[in-house]
Amino acid sequence: MDGLIEDKNMNDSAQFPEIIGQSAVMGDVFALMKKVASSDSTVVITGESGTGKGLAARAIHSNSKRKYSPFVTINCGAIPHNLLESELFGHVKGAFTGATTSKQGKFARAGDGAVFLDEIGDMSPELQVKLLRVLEEKEFEPVGGNDPVHVDVRVIAATHRNLEEEVLKGNFRHDLYYRLYVIPVALPPLRLRKSDIPLLIGHFLNFFNQRNQKQAAGINDDALAAMIKYPWPGNVRELKNVIERLVVLKEEGIITAEDLPERLLENEDCYKGPEVEISDDGICLNTAVNEFEKALIIQSLEKTKWVKNKAAKLLQLNRTTLVEKIKRHHIK
Ligand SMILES: Nc1ncnc2c1ncn2[C@@H]1O[C@H](COP(=O)(O)OP(=O)(O)OP(=O)(O)O)[C@@H](O)[C@H]1O
Ligand SMILES: [Mg+2]
Repeated sequence: MDGLIEDKNMNDSAQFPEIIGQSAVMGDVFALMKKVASSDSTVVITGESGTGKGLAARAIHSNSKRKYSPFVTINCGAIPHNLLESELFGHVKGAFTGATTSKQGKFARAGDGAVFLDEIGDMSPELQVKLLRVLEEKEFEPVGGNDPVHVDVRVIAATHRNLEEEVLKGNFRHDLYYRLYVIPVALPPLRLRKSDIPLLIGHFLNFFNQRNQKQAAGINDDALAAMIKYPWPGNVRELKNVIERLVVLKEEGIITAEDLPERLLENEDCYKGPEVEISDDGICLNTAVNEFEKALIIQSLEKTKWVKNKAAKLLQLNRTTLVEKIKRHHIK
């Protein structure tokens, strides 16, 4: 099985086992999360969509001293502005048309736990003022109410926006920004931690095999190379979805490049077309492709003074595959 990603979870990050990553950047993130979890400070988690902000927020909470208290989440971007205030702070009976009973908001429900304010960058300026008051004075008033409610809640926030820019544009209050940014945790996009891709693939293969009772055994070198090359604009979420699809469709055996969704292959930018003209008589494609492969292998061997490990790396192949190809092409 040389060169194949085996179906196993290789994550050894003890404190956050649900977050997969062993790259240096993730090492820094884990170290910071560990400190953040043991403190009681407000946290803002930043990162592109799908980088694991929600996962990190929950992991911070479940490693904190508040772990036995509620973790209440709310997506500020998914709720209309006029409803968000009552969702967060609750309302009293008769506060607005349709408020036939009083209702507790997320902050009250969190008790002495944590509120996860997802997409905090989408919160309106009026609500930002109310949130600042919760953070500074630990109290708020429900919509339509006059009596302040005291809370001892931890706020964990996340955003895919650059809040600094939003402050400059006047969309986000600078006082709230400074209050929130006590400890920012920035999650790297997947394209900046490509060494984690094999690990994530193994983890998700395992996960979806179990969930769907399938036996996808691993992926071959070509499929892995394509997956490492692809820039993953949707980050870990996109990778997870691709693996789910592969497991469900493949069911068993080794996943090859042909099984991958087209967009992952279209990205093949390492192949610069050979300078070959097809004459009117045509050419034999197989022979031409073989010759081209042979020329590239010789070039890579010459470039690396025939050190096969290095040549294999240059070609993004695994050493055994390169050795096989050298034999097949009778390269001496
Ligand atoms: N490092 C990781 N290890 C394992 N699973 C991960 C990792 N990062 C993200 N995921 C998974 O990828 C999916 C997307 O993660 P999550 O929802 O936390 O991202 P997000 O940054 O909050 O995205 P969005 O900005 O779109 O809300 C989830 O299913 C999550 O479990
Ligand atoms: Mg999220």
